[in-house]
Amino acid sequence: MDEKETKYIISLMSGTSTDSIDTGYCKVTPDLRVEVIDGINYPYPENVKEQIFNLYKPDSTIQDLCRMNFVIGECFAAAANKLIKKHGKPDFISSHGQTVYHIPSNSTLQIGESSVISARTECMTISNFREKDIAVGGQGAPLVCFADEKWFKPLKKNIIVQNIGGISNSTVILNEFDTFGFDNGPGNMLIDYCMRKYFDKEYDKDGLTALEGNICDNWLNLLLEDEYYLIEPPKTTGREYFSEKYIENALKSAPKDPKDIISTLTALTAKSIAVSYERYVYTQSAIDEVILGGGGAYNPTLTKMLKYYLPKHVELKTHEDYGISNNFKEAAAFALLGYCTFYNIPNNLPSCTGAKYRTVLGKITY
Ligand SMILES: Nc1ncnc2c1ncn2[C@@H]1O[C@H](COP(=O)(O)OP(=O)(O)O)[C@@H](O)[C@H]1O
Ligand SMILES: [Mg+2]
Repeated sequence: MDEKETKYIISLMSGTSTDSIDTGYCKVTPDLRVEVIDGINYPYPENVKEQIFNLYKPDSTIQDLCRMNFVIGECFAAAANKLIKKHGKPDFISSHGQTVYHIPSNSTLQIGESSVISARTECMTISNFREKDIAVGGQGAPLVCFADEKWFKPLKKNIIVQNIGGISNSTVILNEFDTFGFDNGPGNMLIDYCMRKYFDKEYDKDGLTALEGNICDNWLNLLLEDEYYLIEPPKTTGREYFSEKYIENALKSAPKDPKDIISTLTALTAKSIAVSYERYVYTQSAIDEVILGGGGAYNPTLTKMLKYYLPKHVELKTHEDYGISNNFKEAAAFALLGYCTFYNIPNNLPSCTGAKYRTVLGKITY
């Protein structure tokens, strides 16, 4: 391929929280830096969100799945078209899709048909990044580590880039070692589930409910005994493991007051992250800094708890401290992954995903 050029890319990302399609109008330069020029959090229509959650239930059918692939494709295209209206057509679109199934080292599926996106926007669309990593022996996740390494390794510090989305995941960037990454466990997912169940709210805005409740240490310790926390990285997880069944089962031994449940689940999110550092990071190296991102970074009760559970010398920063929007960080990362696919540059990081070798992820729909 010719010399690399600067590309304008609309990046589309929706995580396990299913809270919105994060849509970034990004400029990617040949030095692999990404600037998010504009971004919108495009919410799914309420009925679509409900149908996505229904897909995770055991009684969902193959027909539901096929239909939703096209419905979500339309939603992603609508999100992209909003930014196209404002900024004109990008060079191409990079779409992560909506994860509906993720079983590490076995299979993964992101839907939101790229043919629909490309037809509605009349833009080339790059999509389906995870499958190729699984095909070469990896877990298909975490993929954002690739961008984290490009952006943060040059700082020459010992850093953990900590995302707290539906699931929480770390990219560990150490001066003297290869970058590695893993999912810590449930991020906001359990909190969101219980906010819906007990308070009829989508999430615990600004951590106010958690702030009003008390942490129940017995329940917290019981939850922390889950075997996922003991698996050595690389490891990834999702709604298949931390499922409705899992949480309903866990709630059998929960405290009575729903506010205490939210406090304790917030503490679980924070402490499971801190404990994973003790087990899998500090055994290799001390850390100077944690860079926080994802929706959980906006929950001050959660970030305060995390600070409390971390060693005192560790500095807690956010992506914004480095000029990267927290809100569109993952969208920015998928713009970079798409840029690499376009130029045939390997864009998986085997030390993070467990893949046997570096390869070019993604499929192109013209
Ligand atoms: N102001 C806020 N206060 C508390 N929690 C928040 C706030 N903003 C976002 N969140 C949490 O972040 C989640 C979305 O995080 P996100 O990084 O988009 O996750 P995902 O990648 O799984 O979509 C929401 O579901 C919510 O739990
Ligand atoms: Mg989200």
